[in-house]
Amino acid sequence: MGYAPFDVEHVLAALTLKEKAALTSGRDFWHAKGVERLGVPALMLTDGPHGLRKQRSGADHLGLFDSVPATCFPTAAALGSTWEVDLVRRVGEALGRETRAHDVAVLLGPGVNIKRTPLCGRNFEYVSEDPVVAGEIGVALVDGIQSQGVGTSLKHYAANNQETDRMRVSAEVDERTLREIYLPAFERVVTRAQPWTVMCAYNKLNGTFVSEHHWLLTEVLRDEWAFEGLVVSDWGAVHDRVAALDAGLDLQMPAAGPRPDEAVVDAVRAGMLDEAVLDTAVRRVLHLIARALPALADADSTVDVDAHHALAREAAAAGAVLLKNDPVDGAPVLPLDGGDGLLVVGEFARTPRYQGAGSSQVVPTRLDDALTALRAATSTDLPFEPGFTISGGPTGDDDAHRAAAVEAARTARTVVVFLGLPGPDESEGYDRPRLGLPDNQVATLEAVAAVNPRVVVVLANGSAVSLPWRDRAAAVLEAWLGGQAGGSAVADLLLGTVAPSGRLAESIPLRIEDTPAFGNFPGEGGIVRYGEGVLVGYRWYDTRGVDVAYPFGHGLTYTTFGYSDVRARALGEGADVRVEVSATVTNTGDRPGAEVVQVYVRDPEASVLRPTRELKAFAKVALAPGESQTVTFTLDARDLSYWHPGLRRWVVEGGTFVVEVGASSRDVRGSASVEVVGQPLWGELTAWSTLAEWMAHPVGGSLIGAVLASDDAPPMDETMAAMLAQTPARVFADFGLSPLTPEQLDVLVEKANA
Ligand code: BGC
Repeated sequence: MGYAPFDVEHVLAALTLKEKAALTSGRDFWHAKGVERLGVPALMLTDGPHGLRKQRSGADHLGLFDSVPATCFPTAAALGSTWEVDLVRRVGEALGRETRAHDVAVLLGPGVNIKRTPLCGRNFEYVSEDPVVAGEIGVALVDGIQSQGVGTSLKHYAANNQETDRMRVSAEVDERTLREIYLPAFERVVTRAQPWTVMCAYNKLNGTFVSEHHWLLTEVLRDEWAFEGLVVSDWGAVHDRVAALDAGLDLQMPAAGPRPDEAVVDAVRAGMLDEAVLDTAVRRVLHLIARALPALADADSTVDVDAHHALAREAAAAGAVLLKNDPVDGAPVLPLDGGDGLLVVGEFARTPRYQGAGSSQVVPTRLDDALTALRAATSTDLPFEPGFTISGGPTGDDDAHRAAAVEAARTARTVVVFLGLPGPDESEGYDRPRLGLPDNQVATLEAVAAVNPRVVVVLANGSAVSLPWRDRAAAVLEAWLGGQAGGSAVADLLLGTVAPSGRLAESIPLRIEDTPAFGNFPGEGGIVRYGEGVLVGYRWYDTRGVDVAYPFGHGLTYTTFGYSDVRARALGEGADVRVEVSATVTNTGDRPGAEVVQVYVRDPEASVLRPTRELKAFAKVALAPGESQTVTFTLDARDLSYWHPGLRRWVVEGGTFVVEVGASSRDVRGSASVEVVGQPLWGELTAWSTLAEWMAHPVGGSLIGAVLASDDAPPMDETMAAMLAQTPARVFADFGLSPLTPEQLDVLVEKANA
């Protein structure tokens, strides 16, 4: 079938009810349906997110191991750690070009779920524990991919923060926590980048399957955020298509057989489903097909495989985080001064781990390993010892590897040890079994460090690991799962050809017991309670004063930065308030480097619990030695707000706010206070509003004040007043001796709200 343009309304009007119902489910595993008789082609949608996984025809259904070669870019964990939106946008453009060149209409990504626990098996596919970072990186990816005329699927909407029981667990999350933590990254991407599709998650939210969640799919996504695209189900997430359509889901994927389509036809005929609802979904499916046609019709698009590999290398280097770099013999151990006396230890140096398992798995166009890259860059046949087996195989093998590594390390000048999580630890479909690295690897590191003080550890993992051994290493480079060019990127960083510039987009905790979700993860009896509320990631560690190994936002490079002139001033008020923030950053070292300037906000006077600090803006600034730059940010009302659970809206509470500027959530370099004129915090009064809520109300206050001051009112001392403050007016009126009767109260309620 060709790719001639068609008119959506025209086609819609020509469709039978059966054809309409059919269009809202997939044709097969990877295609949505078209309408052959009307010249509407079927579209291909495929994974995502960090590379194209286009299954070869005739392969197994999941096609995990047999897709066409595509550039395996760094995983989202690494892209998030770049904090570099321009670069990520370029990665998006490259992903879009590959999608287009392979005649795929929609790439199934990016994923912007918040990392609630480091143990989530799919964290490597997600960006950050912070909604601003996740949202900004998500916007850049969607903009980049869609600039090529192909679509994205923002996933997995929403509250899909674990893999354990993901297909039926109910995430129990209060609205404030959803609004402040789990929804804003989706909101940012939808409102700023309009992804062609949003993918609904498998799980339930507060008892209702997300695929049937009207509030989530329609009220929030469309009515509030003005989403214009199509909602597609995660593969197999629909269990009642009529309920799903009614809730706002447009396309069930993959093919589900004729039964769900027939159920839709029957529901319309029986008057149980408004045909207009079905028409809306069909219109969105047709619109998706129509907007995909120009790219599909272009038979000439090609991919520059070498250029994409180079971009993957640049991005992998930008996402790696130098956690520590201590001096040995008077100078920091990194960058390495060439290959002389260098020993490479660790199986991961020659057998790289560069992506996670599951639906995101790409067949790379080529694969760099760090050992080959280091040897090439130093023109030295560097000695190598595997040091351990990745599988933790027979103990005898590990012992022999370890002994050989120690022997070689005795005479080496510097040892680079490549450690990481074994592949099966990080996958879609289940969560991680542990926070730490396998014992056999740690044993090798410790044995090597015992005979050589110049040890550099390079880590390969897609989510934070505990590092109880970190004092044994002079330097630690967290390289994440860096995609197909991760190995050469690591060589670039170790040798100083490229300066490290990544920053942690997730805190590295000391122990699993310290993490926010501990005790409420992975849930039990089909329910996972988000008991930590808004205190997720650094919001938890900082507010509770819990020590971490490395804080959110942390990352070193081969130079240093100074901050000066941190300023903030508030303009306007209430919903129109803005805070202008500026700071000057100077490269105070003698090598070029990039700093990530982070702006945090705190509301120390809030009447609800608010995190000690929350990231609201950031900028990555590249500076030559001695160079300075003044960076400016404008925060808006939303950046100062919290979601008021009673009023069910964002509120800026007036008072003093503290704006902190720094290099991590624990490395604040300057701060400024601003006075903010807030918004009124009262809502409608009811009989069940407390006396304090009555008193705070501009009309209700004087009405109830008059009652409390009347001669019949009980004598009031401080204790009594404090007790009464929290008493609902209705309970007060129900006391026989009260000066207020329930009938009078009803009158006051009416007057107050009039
Ligand atoms: C995953 C999605 C993926 C889809 C198609 C699902 O199991 O959760 O992220 O896009 O499969 O492979």
